[in-house]
Amino acid sequence: MTRPAILVARPIFPEVLALLREHFEVDHHNGENALPPAELVARLQGKVGALTTGSERIDAALLAACPDLKIVANMAVGYNNFDVPAMTARGVLATNTPDVLTDTTADFGFALLMATARRVTESEHFLRAGLWTQWRYDMFAGAEVHGSTLGILGMGRIGQGIAKRGAHGFGMKVIYHNRSRLSPALEAECKATYVSKAELLAQADHLVLVLPYSPESHHAMGAAEIGQMKPTATLINIARGGIVDDAALAVALRERRIAAAGLDVYEGEPKVHPDLLTVPNVVLTPHIASATVKTRLAMARLAADNLIGYLTQGKALTPINGS
Ligand code: GLV
Repeated sequence: MTRPAILVARPIFPEVLALLREHFEVDHHNGENALPPAELVARLQGKVGALTTGSERIDAALLAACPDLKIVANMAVGYNNFDVPAMTARGVLATNTPDVLTDTTADFGFALLMATARRVTESEHFLRAGLWTQWRYDMFAGAEVHGSTLGILGMGRIGQGIAKRGAHGFGMKVIYHNRSRLSPALEAECKATYVSKAELLAQADHLVLVLPYSPESHHAMGAAEIGQMKPTATLINIARGGIVDDAALAVALRERRIAAAGLDVYEGEPKVHPDLLTVPNVVLTPHIASATVKTRLAMARLAADNLIGYLTQGKALTPINGS
């Protein structure tokens, strides 16, 4: 009996590849760069499933050209690379990897907040450049974290994880804004107070963005919104590129309209806006918020289990648009 054929579109853990090979004929793109759209379409011919990351766009044009496709399993919790309505219309199941990365990503949000507020990378560059010759009272004096006001825009699972870390670990006052308000029980667990977006921008000492990307959240933090923040505030983006207007942020950082930013995601990544590379008061990391060995393995395993479950038993573990 011929086995179903799938595409694994990116390099992946060998043990996960081996697991997939127990069930499927696997075409593996093991190259460093994501497949360009035309090549992705070519490699998907005859494939019923695909394991993707956020780099492969699954849209109506691709689906029309790949009629055999039944499931695309994203190895990411975010899925703005999927046109979900187009997938649903074609009967293609979309899956993502929620839950397994929540705490690891919340840890990283806090790491980036701390590094940004306390100027960790900026001071390391100074030291490495051999510029440290003496102690000074104001050398790399940053912003206080404990006891300050933590603002969170987007209060899903990861936002709640960041809130708990801030409230319980650092004694921060936590305020948040979200499309929908949390239940009183969850608000109490997170020690978080719901505020309007305007209040969030005006009151946060540290503002962490954790909302999903969609056309509605595009440039949710543009020049006007950044302009409503305190001049002493820091802005942390671990959500998605495109939520912040990176060009406007670079101007605000250069002109010290806010104190600092920490970014893990970028508009048009892996390209980074050149102006961000030249301002000192920004910490830049290459989309690694979920990157611990354990969590990345759990994400890959969940994506693989979604493919195996759906293609062998008709049931995925974490479907976005069906069962
Ligand atoms: C990473 O950005 C993810 O969505 O999992």
